Amino acid sequence: MSKVTIFGAGYVGVPTGAHFARTHRVTIYDPDTEKIDTIRKVVNNESDELHIHEKDLIELLRENRQNICLTSDITQALKDPEFIFIAVGTPPNEKGRANLKYVCSAAEEIASNLKNECIILNKSTVPPGTAYLVQNIIKKGLKSNVKFAVGSCPEFLAEGTAVEDLRTPDRIVYGCDDPEALDKITRFFTFLQRRDSLCPMTTLSSELTKYAANAMLATKISFMNSLALLCDTIGANIREVQDGIGRDQRIGSKFLNASMGYGGSCFPKDTQAIAEYAVLNEVPLSIIESTIKINHDTTRYFYKKIVEDFNGDLTNKNFVLWGIGFKARTDDLRESKPVEIARNLMDNGAHVHIYDTVAGALTNFKRENPTYEGKYTLYNEQYEMFSNEIDGLIIGNEHEKFRNPDLEKLESMRHKNVYDGKNILNNFLIKNLTRLKFQYKSVGKDSVVNGLDRSKLVNFLLDKYMD
Ligand code: UDX
Repeated sequence: MSKVTIFGAGYVGVPTGAHFARTHRVTIYDPDTEKIDTIRKVVNNESDELHIHEKDLIELLRENRQNICLTSDITQALKDPEFIFIAVGTPPNEKGRANLKYVCSAAEEIASNLKNECIILNKSTVPPGTAYLVQNIIKKGLKSNVKFAVGSCPEFLAEGTAVEDLRTPDRIVYGCDDPEALDKITRFFTFLQRRDSLCPMTTLSSELTKYAANAMLATKISFMNSLALLCDTIGANIREVQDGIGRDQRIGSKFLNASMGYGGSCFPKDTQAIAEYAVLNEVPLSIIESTIKINHDTTRYFYKKIVEDFNGDLTNKNFVLWGIGFKARTDDLRESKPVEIARNLMDNGAHVHIYDTVAGALTNFKRENPTYEGKYTLYNEQYEMFSNEIDGLIIGNEHEKFRNPDLEKLESMRHKNVYDGKNILNNFLIKNLTRLKFQYKSVGKDSVVNGLDRSKLVNFLLDKYMD
């Protein structure tokens, strides 16, 4: 059992701390006393409300409460940890570069308060080389001659599935250039995870791995999104193509869902950050620059499909939006594509009726969009808003509740339009919709409704391919 301190009680810090507490003694430190009090109340069964929405997290915190200490006192946080994990935010600045302000101030606090030998690992997503910067800050600020090593241990958990991702990760990546410290980190993780999941490496490679993983996943999605546009143009079905290529195990079936674009706190920020980092190093990663552009263009493409149905005039139109979070089961609205669509609709005169399965997502929407007050209505029930004044239903994320809509309840709509931003309705349902005179639009599956024009395809080939 090791003593661990986590810096930062956010989406990464709290689940990671709760998970480490299965086998280690963990102190979660955050200067924000309100956050720490919120967690403390949950751990003590005085409340069931955390500041982050994460499945099974409350139970995990309570299960491991005997190993968890919560504090906003830096002296207590740095009393005698053997490991410190920095899990603070690195929000992008106006140039798309990771803002290292919080990482650097964590390093300064560590330097001023560290008294025991310690290994400091950075979990926050940072530009490669940041560990060396942290090392310099600590070295400079240390009050006494304490031995320490700095390394990297990026986090790959996805929001909404953090507890499960931490329990059964595909791999644990960590890097440190000091071989003795690297061995200690390996020992730390062998108490927690399968040995064959451990992936030790140098500090710099570990830092780059995080950017590379997120950029690769985002690129898979953008690749499918650009193919989806081709599918809509020629009449193919992106879901079938997805199945066809995803079964090739060299490609893999995950992260191939074409959609109105990816969002969240990681993919948009990290793709932008690695692209910027590469340009600054004079090795532009044009493939990632394309990934970013395609993501933006796909959202425009999807939005245009909605607007075109009303000849560009959305005045007094009413849209239902199911799912406002950047994906299902989260209250996080950062870079959320449904939010972007909702704002565009409201900017153009429409009223948006929003439902999400996570109540916190609705509260966050209200808090973050004060200028749109009066242009939207929030609902806690999925079908409550349907009436003969609704002009379209937009599916904003991939929640199971949206996969099988109760068509009878949609019948009352003034204009029977369904816009599937995540391509989640199956062919059977789409056919049913068509039978009931609904119009269905998606990103790459429009042919299920529209069919295809064989003679157009043949004429195209005759025209372009026969010399
Ligand atoms: C992601 C990574 O998955 C995780 O490993 C990393 O640590 C942080 O970034 P997260 O942002 O929580 O996690 O969500 P994720 O489930 O990856 O989804 C990101 C976005 O991509 C969502 O908007 C989702 O709807 C979209 N997506 C995902 C698609 O459009 N298609 C897919 O096939 C998969």
